[in-house]
Amino acid sequence: MVREVRLSPENLVLPLFACPGEGVRREVASMPGVFNLSADEVAREAAAAFDAGVPAVILFGLPESKDETAAGAYASKGVVQEAIRAVRRAAPEMVIIADTCLCEYTSHGHCGVVRGGEVLNDESLELIARTAVSQAEAGADIVAPSAMMDGQVGAIREALDDAGFEHVAVMAYAVKYASGFYGPFREAADSAPSFGDRRAYQMDAANAREAMREAELDVMEGADFLMVKPATAYLDIVRAVRERFDLPLAAYHVSGEYAMIKAAAERGWIDEQRVMLETLTGIRRAGADIILTYYATEAAKLLRR
Ligand code: PBG
Repeated sequence: MVREVRLSPENLVLPLFACPGEGVRREVASMPGVFNLSADEVAREAAAAFDAGVPAVILFGLPESKDETAAGAYASKGVVQEAIRAVRRAAPEMVIIADTCLCEYTSHGHCGVVRGGEVLNDESLELIARTAVSQAEAGADIVAPSAMMDGQVGAIREALDDAGFEHVAVMAYAVKYASGFYGPFREAADSAPSFGDRRAYQMDAANAREAMREAELDVMEGADFLMVKPATAYLDIVRAVRERFDLPLAAYHVSGEYAMIKAAAERGWIDEQRVMLETLTGIRRAGADIILTYYATEAAKLLRR
C-alpha cells in the first residue's frame, strides 16, 4: 500500500535479434537466454512475451550480408522488416519498435557512412531516414534511432511525414554513452566496429550537462520518447532527464548489465531473480517509465504471480 514505485510488465520492452532462415535459435554465448532468431522464432518469442504481459518488443537485425552502404538496413525484405511482419501476424496488439541504426548492416560496423576513416554525420542521415521509412512500411509502430548522428531525429521525422507515416512515433536514443556495457550486444548483433571506436558519436561517461543538450536537441527535432542508455551506471542521468523533460522516458538495461547478473548468478554468487527485480525497480525509481531489458519476459512472469 505504501510502495512508492511500481514495476509492472507494462513498463517493459523485450529486445530481440532477428536473423535469416526458418526455425533458427542460436544462443548468444555471452548472453545466456538470448538468441539470434529467424522471423518465425522472433514471432514466437514476441507472442510469449505478450502473453506474459509485456506490451512491446524492439527488433535488431543480423542481415544475410553486410556492405559499405548498409543496404540490408533498408531492404524491403530485410531481416527486421520480415520480423516486423511476423510479429504483427503472431501478436497483432503488440507494440513493435524497430531499432534504427546502420552498424549491424555495414561491413565496417560503424553506425554511419565511412569515408577516409571518418564517419560522415550528414551523409549518414539519408540512409538512417530511409531505414526508418522501410521499417514503417513493414508495420513498425515506433522507430528508435540509436546511431547518435546529429540531426537524425529531425531527418527521420521529416522522411516519415513525407512518406505518409505521420502516426509512426520516434523513440530517440537521446543520451547514449560510449560504453563497455555494450560488449555482449556486439557479439549478439555482430556489430563491433572493425576499426576505431564510437567515441566520436557516442557520449563520454563523464558528461552530464551534455546529456541535457542531447535530449533538448531531440525534443526540438520532434522526438516522442527519450531514452538514456545504459541504465544502472547512469541513474543520475535518468533522474535529471525525467526532471527536465516531460516526454515518456525509457532506459535501456543493456547487454553487459544483463550478462553481469547472469554470470554472477551462474556462479551462485547472487540470487538472480532478486537482483533482477531490484535492478529494474531501481531504474523505475530513478524516473524511467519504460525499461528495455533482456529480462522482460522473465520479470513479467514473476511480477504477475
Ligand atoms: C546500435 C545499438 C547498440 C546497442 C543498441 N543499439 C550497440 C552499440 O552502440 O554499439 C546496445 C544494446 C545493448 O548493449 O544491449 N547502435
